[in-house]
Amino acid sequence: MANDRQLISGEVPAGTNPKQFSRETQGNPMQTSVTSNDSKPLAGRAAAPLWLLTGFWISIAISVAVVVRRLVAIIHPSQSAPPQLAALDEAFASHAALTIAHIVPAMAFVLLTPFVFLRRTEALWAERLLFPLGAVVSVTAYAMNTYSIGGWVERSAVLLFNTLFLLSLARAYRYMRRGEHLLKRRWITRAVGILLGIATTRPVMGIFFATSRLTHLEPRQFFGVAFWIGFSINTIAVELWLHSRGRQSQRERMAVRSARQL
Ligand code: HEM
Repeated sequence: MANDRQLISGEVPAGTNPKQFSRETQGNPMQTSVTSNDSKPLAGRAAAPLWLLTGFWISIAISVAVVVRRLVAIIHPSQSAPPQLAALDEAFASHAALTIAHIVPAMAFVLLTPFVFLRRTEALWAERLLFPLGAVVSVTAYAMNTYSIGGWVERSAVLLFNTLFLLSLARAYRYMRRGEHLLKRRWITRAVGILLGIATTRPVMGIFFATSRLTHLEPRQFFGVAFWIGFSINTIAVELWLHSRGRQSQRERMAVRSARQL
């Protein structure tokens, strides 16, 4: 039974049929656990590091907070918001339907991710829901991009990372249809890592807002930069994590091989 800290990316659930497992992992460098002769996964399944878990939960909290804030701003526009914020609120209120169509599925997607990654037993219902929700988030993000506050700098970041997100989700879906568990998990991890980049953009924007008196930068000038920084951080972090798991599983396989030769 998987431990709550055993995050994703190819975790081998205890009790997995070893034949099915090895078929699924053939040629998969991200295989993260090895099976012994008695078919039980061996020790050495890495728990998610604390930095990753902390980042995961903080990203979820930020994502929910921004959606709630945006919904409140659309339903009850504030009369006392600072001018920069009021201008942003007005911009999103002017295409409220599209904004709501983007942020409500986005929040649902984000709220499902702990069920997919951290539950003791895999929540397949939650995993399956990620695909349609992710597709809606992505399509509406492309549509939101036509109004982007940050102009072409933001637009280019969204085109790149939204496309990476959609392609990762599509690959995960394909592997799910083929019953290739580990590859599916790997690509879902990627998709979720990229999507949560939206949360990483927020503290970056916060820094730009906080220093705007000194820098004289306006949202239209720094939104795009914040999108590039936030999504890049997450995309790089998830790739480093996946590759470190790959290297670790290689070491585990070699250790098992030499133990068998003794
Ligand atoms: C692939 C992932 C995502 C992409 C590419 C994306 C893209 C976008 C874009 C282009 C905008 C319009 C920004 C502008 O007009 O300047 C936007 C707005 C917004 N997005 Fe997303 N988004 C993604 C995921 C999410 C997630 C996961 C959440 C939260 C759960 C979220 C919440 C919001 C909110 C609340 C807004 C309205 C603006 C605000 O209140 O700051 N998005 N998004």
